[in-house]
Amino acid sequence: MGHGKLKKFEENKTFSCLLQPDGADVARKDEGGLVLVDHPVKGHWNGTVFHDPRPIILELGCGKGEYVIALAERNPEYNYIGVDIKGARLWKGAKYVTEHGLSNAAFLRTRIEFIEAFFGPGEVAGIWLTFSDPQLRKESARLTSPRFLERYRRILRPGGFVRLKTDSRFLYEYSLAVASGNGLRIAASSADIYGGTVDGADEDEIRDIREIKTYYEKMSLALGYTIKYLKFGIDRDGAFVSPEFDADYWRSVEGERPFGYTSVQ
Ligand SMILES: C[S@@+](CC[C@H](N)C(=O)[O-])C[C@H]1O[C@@H](n2cnc3c(N)ncnc32)[C@H](O)[C@@H]1O
Repeated sequence: MGHGKLKKFEENKTFSCLLQPDGADVARKDEGGLVLVDHPVKGHWNGTVFHDPRPIILELGCGKGEYVIALAERNPEYNYIGVDIKGARLWKGAKYVTEHGLSNAAFLRTRIEFIEAFFGPGEVAGIWLTFSDPQLRKESARLTSPRFLERYRRILRPGGFVRLKTDSRFLYEYSLAVASGNGLRIAASSADIYGGTVDGADEDEIRDIREIKTYYEKMSLALGYTIKYLKFGIDRDGAFVSPEFDADYWRSVEGERPFGYTSVQ
């Protein structure tokens, strides 16, 4: 590991806005598979990490935290938490939050697969998925797959929304198929947020999705990709099911991204 990365990892230990649990404390294997162990912060983010209790919004796969920070600065009535597994990226966001005294933003270093160990039922008011890896070959790893929606449902309060902002036509179409195949309410959608309308979204929401552009998004726009948006509820009784979806066709129109999605799968 490079010296720069080691230095960031050392500095990460000093940031009070960054929670970095030891993976072994959160998930252990037994005969039945992976068992999650509740972290002490579960159910207590408001009151411990955040001194001013406000509805909590997550960004899953936040990278350097650019989106979380911009949302927190624009919407002080919410508390935001960026989740990512990569410590060197989280360092950038955590450093900014620390240096700017931003009291409504924090970060959690963990795998998204372990999210239920950190949040109690209904503790989360909303979830953002921004430029997630479309996982062209592995449905169960897609962040809008039934498997992940089950996890989100256990922490998202009733009526809460999942918001997907993506440059991937494949992931957008797949997520639409999941929503319709499970009878989920689509509150807003757009296949091109800059070139077209964003049906269902109010003005503040449109501003948040159009005016916040991460480094990743700018690279994708420079390659000519359009940016898509989908906001949907996940209130549903019973298990989520895999949708009918022509993966071969959508893979064939997906296009190359030389910078990749840096998936951890
Ligand atoms: C393409 S980047 C997007 C980063 C950021 N949302 C943006 O728009 O700039 C995807 C991020 O998701 C993170 N990620 C992917 N799968 C993950 C997982 N299962 N658990 C935690 N983080 C994950 C990666 O580490 C990476 O930082």
